[in-house]
Amino acid sequence: MLKNKVALVTGAASGIGKATAELFASEGASVVVADLKEEAGRETVSAIESNGGHAAFVQLDQSKPGTFQSVVDEAERPFGGIDVLCNIAGVTASRKITEITEDSWDFVTGIDLKGMFFLTQEVFVRMRDRGHGKIVNVASIAALRGGRSSDASYSAAKAGVLNLTKCFALQGAQHGINVNVVCPGNIYTPMSADLAWSKRDPKDYIPMGRYGTPEDVAGVMLFLASDLADYVVGESINISGGLYV
Ligand SMILES: NC(=O)c1ccc[n+]([C@@H]2O[C@H](COP(=O)([O-])OP(=O)(O)OC[C@H]3O[C@@H](n4cnc5c(N)ncnc54)[C@H](O)[C@@H]3O)[C@@H](O)[C@H]2O)c1
Repeated sequence: MLKNKVALVTGAASGIGKATAELFASEGASVVVADLKEEAGRETVSAIESNGGHAAFVQLDQSKPGTFQSVVDEAERPFGGIDVLCNIAGVTASRKITEITEDSWDFVTGIDLKGMFFLTQEVFVRMRDRGHGKIVNVASIAALRGGRSSDASYSAAKAGVLNLTKCFALQGAQHGINVNVVCPGNIYTPMSADLAWSKRDPKDYIPMGRYGTPEDVAGVMLFLASDLADYVVGESINISGGLYV
C-alpha cells in the first residue's frame, strides 16, 4: 500500500511507532525511523532491513524545535522527500492535578504538543511545495475524555493535537496534503507498563476484553497514510476496543 513512498515515523524506537515503521516497510515504504533513543531506533532499522525492507535512523529530540530543520534535512537524505509523516513520539505522566509543576507541564506539553506542531510545520512546508503528502498524528482517548489516572498536561496536549490536526488538515487540503489523527485507548507498550490501567484486568472494563496492541494502531495508521484515504480530511479515529465510543 505504500510502494515508492518515503515515511518519516517518529517514536519508532518503541511501541506503536516501532510497529508502524515495521508495517509501513512491509507495505513497501522506505522508512526513516526518528527517535530520541538511538540504540533502540537502530534496532528497528535492523529489524526492517532483515525482513528485506529499507530504513534509516535519524536522531530526533522533539523537545528542541530549533533542531527540526536539520533533522528533516537529514531525514530526506537517504530516500528523498517525505511523502508520509507519522507523529507518534510522545511522553506521558501520571501526576495528580495537585502534583503537576511548571517543569513537568513544560516537559510533557513541550514534546507532545509544541514539538509535534513545529516538526509538522517543518515537514508540511516541504509537502506543500511538492504538492502532496499524508500526515497521521497520534493523540489519545485522553484528549476526548480526560482521565483520572492520566496527567492533565498529557490530556491537554493531546486535545491540542486533535485541534492542530484540523488546522493542518484545512490548510493542507488545498495542497494535496491529508492530515488525520488517531486516538488510541489502552495499548500495551513500554509507555503503559507503569500506568495504573495496566494493573487492571481488561475484561473488567474494556468491551473487547483485551488491551490494544501496537499493531492494532499501526493498521489504522497505514490506512490513513495510504492512497485509500485520499478524501479523508481532518478526521479522528478511536482505536480503543470500545473503551471510548
Ligand atoms: N500506549 C498507549 O496506551 C497509548 C494510548 C494513547 C496514546 N498513546 C500515544 O502513542 C504514542 C506512542 O506511545 P507508545 O505507547 O508506543 O510509547 P513508547 O514509550 O513505547 O514510545 C514512545 C517513543 O517516543 C520516543 N520519544 C520520547 N520522547 C521523545 C523526544 N523528546 N524526542 C523523540 N522521541 C521521543 C521514545 O523514545 C519512544 O521510542 C505516544 O504519542 C502516546 O502518547 C499511547
